Amino acid sequence: MTERGILAFSGGLDTSVVVKYLQEEYDMDVITVTVDVGQGDDQKKIEAKAKKLGVIKHYNIDARKEFVENFIFPSIKANALYQKKYCLATALARPLIAEKVLEIAKKEKVTALAHGCSGKGNDQVRFDITLRSGSDLPIIAPIRDKNLDRVTELKFAKKHGIEIDSVAKRFSIDQNLWGRAIEGGVLEDPYNEPPEDAFIWVKTKNLPDKPTYMEIKFEKGIPVAVDGKILEPIKLIEYVNKKAGDAGVGIVDHIEDRVVGIKSREVYETPGAICLIEAHADLEKMVHTKHENKFKSIIDDEWAYLAYSGLWQDPLKQELDAFIQTSQKPVSGIVKLKLFKGSVRVVGRKSEYSLYSHKIATYGTESTFDQRLAKGFVELWGIQSTEAIKLQKKMSTKT
Ligand code: ARG
Repeated sequence: MTERGILAFSGGLDTSVVVKYLQEEYDMDVITVTVDVGQGDDQKKIEAKAKKLGVIKHYNIDARKEFVENFIFPSIKANALYQKKYCLATALARPLIAEKVLEIAKKEKVTALAHGCSGKGNDQVRFDITLRSGSDLPIIAPIRDKNLDRVTELKFAKKHGIEIDSVAKRFSIDQNLWGRAIEGGVLEDPYNEPPEDAFIWVKTKNLPDKPTYMEIKFEKGIPVAVDGKILEPIKLIEYVNKKAGDAGVGIVDHIEDRVVGIKSREVYETPGAICLIEAHADLEKMVHTKHENKFKSIIDDEWAYLAYSGLWQDPLKQELDAFIQTSQKPVSGIVKLKLFKGSVRVVGRKSEYSLYSHKIATYGTESTFDQRLAKGFVELWGIQSTEAIKLQKKMSTKT
């Protein structure tokens, strides 16, 4: 009986090369699955590409709604930015794509699971762990297993008549509704400024001379309306991406620590994520106590770390989700953002759960805060610190 391998297929260089490898080197029939998480590709074209490569069956799955509701929204609630910068666009999509592959793997009774990840990146971690959590079938990753580099892949692709578009030749791109990651090529020198034509979502030239305002309405931590319009989840993300990108907002350029220990230079276009997370985090500060704010930022950091590191299914991540979910009860209100020539700033916020009290905070005559109470509070608050400093001074004069 011929072996049957299943593969998450994007139509890009890596996964196209893998189809051929599975057929030729592993003598397998190949089933491809393209999961739409908002990468904006023409599904028909990808299907045609897969068929041209000789796959026995191809599946197209529209998982955009699930992606937004079960992955992007939880990440907004967690203000999830890995190393304070990366909104996890690729990282969030991987467990979902792998789940979908597993569903079809069961139906099609395949004998092996395959993916197009290299042994240098994070995606292998995310794919392997999700696949392993749901199946005992062997995992084949030809790029990793055969230690292939990009030049060899490009040659192999050429030999097999696999078409690769010109952007893919210069960079390695991964995109979905939550962001666009650009790696490789000239960007591998961390001192090289990204060329302007690397950017597609964010305008870098001829930016408007007037600021753009954006009002985001949240209900229990989830964005539900923008600029007074209630939008369903996919539309909402698309709307914010477009509006912020047009104002030049959304480029991130940083050095990132990969799971396997490599430091990599990563460039992203994530206009929607930047605005939504900025707005959400700001609203939380208004409705949460100081103690909640302090603790939640630790939880958020850990959540982003786990999601980045392929541990989406780990019990700890589920436990953090439970905490975060409870914390979102009062996170309802409106945040006003000002976008101008690439910058974004919160310029207003309001909520029925606001803990901000004008009569407590004001410096005016209507203040109800009795300043005299502060004297004793400050004395007690600093008692250990002041004692310690006095002692240090005394000891240093002795020596
Ligand atoms: N560094 C990011 C991550 O690990 C993005 C990777 C994007 N992949 C790509 N082929 N450009 O999630």
